Amino acid sequence: MDFKKYYIETYGCQMNEADSELIAGILEGFSCRSVNKPEEADVILVNTCTVRENAERRAISRLDQFKSLKKKNPDLILGLLGCVAQRDRGKIISEKPFVDLILGPDSYQHLPEIFNGCKYPLVNVKLSKTEVYEGITPFRRTKVNAWISIMRGCDKFCSYCIVPYTRGRERSRSIESIANEAKKAVGDGYKEVTLLGQNVNSYSYENYKFPDLLEAVSNVKEVQRIRFISPHPNDIDDRMLEVIRDHQNICKHIHLPLQAGSSRILNLMNRGYDQGKYLSVVKKIRTYLSDVAISTDIIVGFPGETEEDFLETLNVMDKVVFDSAFMFKYSPRPGTKASLMEDDVSEEEKADRLTRVIEKQREHTLIRNSALVGSVQEVLVEDLSKKDPNEKMGRTGTNKVVIIKKGDAEIGDLVKVKIEKAVGVSLFGEIV
Ligand code: 5AD
Ligand code: SF4
Repeated sequence: MDFKKYYIETYGCQMNEADSELIAGILEGFSCRSVNKPEEADVILVNTCTVRENAERRAISRLDQFKSLKKKNPDLILGLLGCVAQRDRGKIISEKPFVDLILGPDSYQHLPEIFNGCKYPLVNVKLSKTEVYEGITPFRRTKVNAWISIMRGCDKFCSYCIVPYTRGRERSRSIESIANEAKKAVGDGYKEVTLLGQNVNSYSYENYKFPDLLEAVSNVKEVQRIRFISPHPNDIDDRMLEVIRDHQNICKHIHLPLQAGSSRILNLMNRGYDQGKYLSVVKKIRTYLSDVAISTDIIVGFPGETEEDFLETLNVMDKVVFDSAFMFKYSPRPGTKASLMEDDVSEEEKADRLTRVIEKQREHTLIRNSALVGSVQEVLVEDLSKKDPNEKMGRTGTNKVVIIKKGDAEIGDLVKVKIEKAVGVSLFGEIV
């Protein structure tokens, strides 16, 4: 059989987006070509996420939808990849026997076995202490930003989080291969690179730590912008902030997951810091980087979270005034420590707390964005505006979306934009 056309659907975080580019890179090496419609594909791969129940359910329900395509094309190979494959392989094998491939996040190098007459289902979910997909060239679908995965896995074991179980132990790629990948991305026309890791600043390779890596990538000529996600507050040190401060092409934006404001809940979450420590990290960041943007992740309704605890989350939000935030209702993940605690915050209460954090964040985003009205910002043009294709959309170094109402610019250009207004979560302006 000729496995020529593949279709990949990706759920979850940027790490998964980057993994899908690696998977595509592996397949392209076997003369496969990507298609945009599953109906046209010989191989359909669903790259899944299990961080919250919703994402997991959506990805699994896609398998049932793709099952019908197998009736029309009995040779179609249907694969489940990523974190759900890692965690639920037994259930999938018994409940969805039409799934041909089940490969966990460290098993993508097994994909080419489908070209060698392998037996189905092909299942591999072995977690590795060393796999970093060194030497595989990602097949990128983005235009301006190149994702570069620099480390894999997580050793932090926050009590609510499934990642350490599905992605295994921390391991980092060599500094040289990352710098080379950045060079290649720039040579291919990318203007921005985003360094990715589940715990990006615990990067460690031989004697090199995250600040060394930032410096090395920053010294790659013509990288106009460097971003990185997601750091852990405990792994932010002075040197990291000095390097960010001293290199013009490292974006002044730090994503600093808070998760909860109450020190009691943070302790139950095993985050390794309390409210005071978190606020002192924010203070330190702002001392080094005066115009920095700080964004965050927040979970509401962790087991045992009282109204009083929750008010501490709002309190920290008021103290920090984040530029933006991703906010979630706690979702118990079987296998984690927190899943053994009683999920005792009612659904209504979780929904109510979520509404309250979203509402507060909306106000804070507007406060932060409004402070830029009247200023001139450097904006990297990323795409056409979704609402009006005559306008362009880009981002500031601080990761704020800017709609460019007037002025000529091509996608990939770095332009100076006078900010005229802030509405919702966006800025609007014109090129000067
Ligand atoms: N429930 C809700 N949110 C979660 N996250 C991780 N695990 C869970 C969970 N079980 C959130 C955290 C993390 C982000 C990627 O997802 O806020 O930072
Ligand atoms: Fe999950 Fe915590 Fe690791 Fe982030 S640091 S991936 S929340 S265990």
